[in-house]
Amino acid sequence: MKVQDKVFVITGGARGLGAGMAAHLASQGSHIALIDIDQASVDKTASVLSTNGILVKGYECNITDEAEVETTFAKIKHDFGRIDGLVNNAGIMRDGMLIKVKEGELVGKMSLQQWQSVVDVNLTGTFLCGREAAAIMALQDDGGVIVNVSSVSRAGNMGQTNYSATKAGVASMVVTWARELARFNIRVGGIAPGLIATEMTAQMKPEAIERLLKSVPLGRLGEVDEMAHTLQYIVENDYFTGRIIEMDGGVRV
Ligand code: NAI
Repeated sequence: MKVQDKVFVITGGARGLGAGMAAHLASQGSHIALIDIDQASVDKTASVLSTNGILVKGYECNITDEAEVETTFAKIKHDFGRIDGLVNNAGIMRDGMLIKVKEGELVGKMSLQQWQSVVDVNLTGTFLCGREAAAIMALQDDGGVIVNVSSVSRAGNMGQTNYSATKAGVASMVVTWARELARFNIRVGGIAPGLIATEMTAQMKPEAIERLLKSVPLGRLGEVDEMAHTLQYIVENDYFTGRIIEMDGGVRV
């Protein structure tokens, strides 16, 4: 599928990887619906990306809320007429150890709230948006493409019980959906990025970044443009489905 003149929905599109992928697609002539919980930022990003001949609109929506997601996808279908692609990108991190022990005493546990908040956004949000997009694409003659954003952490990572579990979950949805939705001409792919330079990584301590980079063979953070390039490959390669591309500078063992 060529990206020009196609309609893409990108969740978590107000900033970071979502906004970067949106900018890339818009520069190639795609129309974009940005979904984000942060209305002011999503409206700002939409207005920056809008240029002549390209429709870019922002939608405030909490992707953990079923009714909001259903209404938002119905609005997007109404505003754009169709949906050719969905990028399930919105995600959060609430890192912490499963348990903390100090001098023989239990001093902390990952709270249920810490677990649930990440499951709600990363896993349930991806499920709800994928379901609504598929329901629209399946009734179009020419299907569409769905891309879930996973992470190198899907293999399991210290301090990320919640995040790793959700990123493994969205990767398994890629395989399930590819099998279920191929009959409607809907392809489904995933991207498992390593550390990419965004607002999220900018909040990390420089020492932490430096430590992490020691394990990256390419010795640097990935760029948002490199992520967008991977997305474009999945969208444009009509024989690609049910697989995850690892885009991580070689960090994954
Ligand atoms: P970010 O934190 O910069 O942006 C995430 C966006 O999602 C924000 O605009 C936020 O408002 C939105 N969002 C959060 N909760 C939401 C909700 N309930 N409903 C709707 N929107 C919501 O994150 P970044 O770095 O751009 O990451 C994007 C995706 O890539 C995430 O799924 C993340 O887990 C994944 N990822 C990022 C990596 C990185 O190095 N930046 C590495 C591996 C994966």
